[in-house]
Amino acid sequence: MSHQKTTLGEFIIKNQASFSYSTGELSSLLNALRLAAKVVNHEVNKAGLVDLFGDSGDVNVQGEQQQKLDVFANKTFIQSLKNRNIVCGIVSEENDEFITIKGQDKESNGKYVVLMDPLDGSSNIDVNVSVGTIFSIYRRITPIGTPVEEKDFLQPGNAQIGAGYIVYGTSTMLVYTTGDGVNGFTLNPAIGTFYLSHPNMTFPEEGKVYSVNQGNYRHFPDSVKKYIKYCQQEEEDRPYTQRYIGSLVSDFHRNMIQGGVYLYPNSTVNKDGKLRLLYECNPIAFLTEQAGGIATDGQVDILDIVPSQIHERAPLYCGSSSMVKKLLEFIK
Ligand code: AHG
Ligand code: MN
Ligand code: MN
Ligand code: MN
Repeated sequence: MSHQKTTLGEFIIKNQASFSYSTGELSSLLNALRLAAKVVNHEVNKAGLVDLFGDSGDVNVQGEQQQKLDVFANKTFIQSLKNRNIVCGIVSEENDEFITIKGQDKESNGKYVVLMDPLDGSSNIDVNVSVGTIFSIYRRITPIGTPVEEKDFLQPGNAQIGAGYIVYGTSTMLVYTTGDGVNGFTLNPAIGTFYLSHPNMTFPEEGKVYSVNQGNYRHFPDSVKKYIKYCQQEEEDRPYTQRYIGSLVSDFHRNMIQGGVYLYPNSTVNKDGKLRLLYECNPIAFLTEQAGGIATDGQVDILDIVPSQIHERAPLYCGSSSMVKKLLEFIK
């Protein structure tokens, strides 16, 4: 069957042809991510066999214990991006500062910056539950040929030119957008090729799933508590089903396919929520909007937030449009 489907490589080339100004650099960048995804997938699959479970012994800038796979995935994606001359800088969850990439002949000659969460859902690694990678791509705003600056990374989400994720799940998928809809590709591990399996992914307008870490209920704002009670009420098509994996990528992926809403609110313990704006909320919000859903921090669209720090956090509410609209009636 799979030989009849479009491969990710073919899809990238076909898409590139539709941009008359395209130089092929974005395609090359996507190919770098595709390659790193396959390498990480290979390691994730055998993590239990090769001593890749557990802590690396280090703590990242967020104060989180780094897992060995966090470190491995981070190195792999950075190396793959460095090997091509397209990216001038990278922000990663696992690096305190942004990384400057120097071009071969000129200083930092790449056109793009990438912001990433190399391994999302770290706490699920050791228990064999799906994890992911999230990425966000911008055109730099400083001139090509000069070193990348922090302001190249501090652009609002609506300036993204590409975003996506890889979910290392029951099968491994790469899902991405370059602003013309969302497409999903499934890896055939036997031959190491991603095939277009989910063309034009869209959120069902309605859904029956809400995803939230309800253990934090007592710390949530009253408005969110009331919305959760609403989800649990016996009325019309409720109560909704509660599903929470604890890997943003996997929770989002399920909701996009089945319909649902994802909540990571601010709380009395995390005043800006937990998720990181630049490499978790923004790429997820770009995908959400491209798939016909809504992504908000409760007050404004995620994509309109102007960031001030590379590791800043934001509350995130995203998913099926009618569910997020209902939720906003409680919050706003
Ligand atoms: P990461 O593993 O990249 O640090 O991200 C963890 C995030 C996200 O993946 C997940 O949805 C969320 O944290 C889970 O947080 P809680 O355990 O607080 O629910
Ligand atoms: Mn982490
Ligand atoms: Mn994450
Ligand atoms: Mn992570």
